[in-house]
Amino acid sequence: MPEAKKTFYMTTPIYYPSGDLHIGHTYTTVAADTLTRFKRQQGYDAYMLTGSDEHGQKIQKIAEEKGVTPKAYVDGTVAKIKELWKLMNIDYSQFIRTTDEDHVKSVQKIFKRLYDQGDIYKGRYEGWYCTPDEAFWTDTQVVDGKCPDCGRPVERASEEAYFFRMSKYADRLLTYIESHPGFIQPEARQKEMINNFIKPGLQDLCVSRTSFDWGIPVEFDPGHVVYVWIDALSNYITALGYLNDKPQLMDRYWPADLHLVGKDIIRFHTIYWPIMLMALDLPLPKTIYGHGWILLKGGKMSKSIGNVVDPVALVQKYGVDPLRYHVLKEMKYGADGSYSEDLLIGNINADLANDLGNLLSRTVAMTVKYFGGVIPETRLAGDHDADLKQTAEAAVKNYAAWMDKLDFSRALESVWQLIGRANKYIDETEPWVLGKDASRKDRLAAVLYNLTESLRIVSVLIAAPMPDTSAKMIAQLKVPAALATWESIQSFGGYPAGIEVARCEPLYPRIDLKQLAKEKQAQPAKPKKNKQAKPKAEPAAPGVITIDDFGRVQMRVAEVLACEKHPDADRLLVFQLDFGDEKRQIISGIAKWYRPEELVGKKLIACTNLKPVKLRGLPSDGMILSAEKDGALRVLTVDGDMPAGSVVG
Ligand code: MSP
Repeated sequence: MPEAKKTFYMTTPIYYPSGDLHIGHTYTTVAADTLTRFKRQQGYDAYMLTGSDEHGQKIQKIAEEKGVTPKAYVDGTVAKIKELWKLMNIDYSQFIRTTDEDHVKSVQKIFKRLYDQGDIYKGRYEGWYCTPDEAFWTDTQVVDGKCPDCGRPVERASEEAYFFRMSKYADRLLTYIESHPGFIQPEARQKEMINNFIKPGLQDLCVSRTSFDWGIPVEFDPGHVVYVWIDALSNYITALGYLNDKPQLMDRYWPADLHLVGKDIIRFHTIYWPIMLMALDLPLPKTIYGHGWILLKGGKMSKSIGNVVDPVALVQKYGVDPLRYHVLKEMKYGADGSYSEDLLIGNINADLANDLGNLLSRTVAMTVKYFGGVIPETRLAGDHDADLKQTAEAAVKNYAAWMDKLDFSRALESVWQLIGRANKYIDETEPWVLGKDASRKDRLAAVLYNLTESLRIVSVLIAAPMPDTSAKMIAQLKVPAALATWESIQSFGGYPAGIEVARCEPLYPRIDLKQLAKEKQAQPAKPKKNKQAKPKAEPAAPGVITIDDFGRVQMRVAEVLACEKHPDADRLLVFQLDFGDEKRQIISGIAKWYRPEELVGKKLIACTNLKPVKLRGLPSDGMILSAEKDGALRVLTVDGDMPAGSVVG
């Protein structure tokens, strides 16, 4: 019997279809697709799941406002999500919708089982209630005692709800996490989960609601719908046929090899989800990786701020692979990354058009010019060949190692090291000089062969992150299918003899920035796309700021690691703060209201893009926010548990 293929099951979060997705969501899905393609290249039976998380109050409300049923509304937005993934060249294996009948059926069975075995119990959910909107809000959502949606007063209310007894499994989870070091990645997130959530004691999770009905009904208690996380997280197993009639893939693919999620939902995936699985007696996923966010000039992109970047427009303007390349390159391992159109154009011009595109077009052009497109078989080795070959072999190894570590940015860097080395090899060997001397034809043949072989290796390496570009290169170099495989690039020298290459269009034309600026000037100003057409804006009243002004202020949640009195100023406290991905010192003039030790361990809100200053000789990088009235002062904190580094806005 042939040996069974190794499997690799990876998932993206299922996205809320509450509007159009932006490049942040696109990043997660592109990263998942890249890894899936890479695993397939390596011979794995790789299965990629993505989908949509369609239930909940928010969707119900939007649908009501639009005068359609929630299902009709999500059918429309989900169709757009699928179009986006097609445009982005995402080769997923399955798209799950939480409104799929099979998913609904499984979630009901899961809920019942957890209830029957005593993991779920009935209690009361408390919050701020807006009667006209029939909506609950949390302390942080209400604005001055008013509903954030309609502005009418809210009142304290409670409703009957089911809760999941998380605390029962806390010790088991802690032991599991501590004995499986790769389970939560990056490592810093593991510490954060343990110290901030598990050790202080897990809160029970509200898992049903009665104040809206757009959800999966709790079968044994009419009026209750399953509240979001049990419904959403279960998708990873219901998609594999768990407790339903879909094709039975659990044995083949579960446990998942990787759940790829953004840092904002890592807690749900590393605490609630493993506990659910323990309660269901299922093995836990092997790795959960929480990536950072794509930020706009340091600030968060959000549908509610209205500053989202539309991937469709970018693909229309610049193409799919440049966008795939850009997001993978700019998102460093576990950290936030930036997006700006200038940065994207910079990457296209420098890395794609200049480094890669020129390498290909120069190599092909010289092969056509000096050898009519076919590199002769008689070739003479010379200086720099060994170094190029070594760099190519290292690039293959490093690329694979970084991909396995989920560091897509460094994986690409490894490929670009080879591209850079090959460009340098052209400068060193000066083929145009060799071409003038008939007696050095054999050396010229070797130089062009080594360049072509390097390009073949590059074309296979970029097949996962940039499938279209890879296919174009393979077509242009006429690489036979058997030599466009992962195995075939494990050693240098596979490019076959006798192939005729032909000149063709450049891979990436350079973007002419001056021309672009002219075009922009010539265009009439466009109305903002993501808001409904509004009458011409009134000039802002004095003191009123626009959403763009607001977006410039960056605020994040910071955990106080240490706090002490300023050695030279009684009114100042010196804070050491943890922002998840970085640590900072901020000095604040609040010593009159707090003793330093009172604040250690608290999660505060800090502005992070203030110009750093020195306060009485010590540097301060940011500002801690507080509320002050009639001589009293209290620092701002977050309602509930939000990880350090969470963006406030
Ligand atoms: N529906 C839940 C996930 C349930 S998974 C069982 C959800 N949906 S979401 O649409 O709001 O977000 C989906 C993912 O997009 C999250 O992983 C989130 O981190 C990611 N991103 C949202 N904005 C982002 C950026 N600006 N940058 C990178 N990723 C971002 O949460």
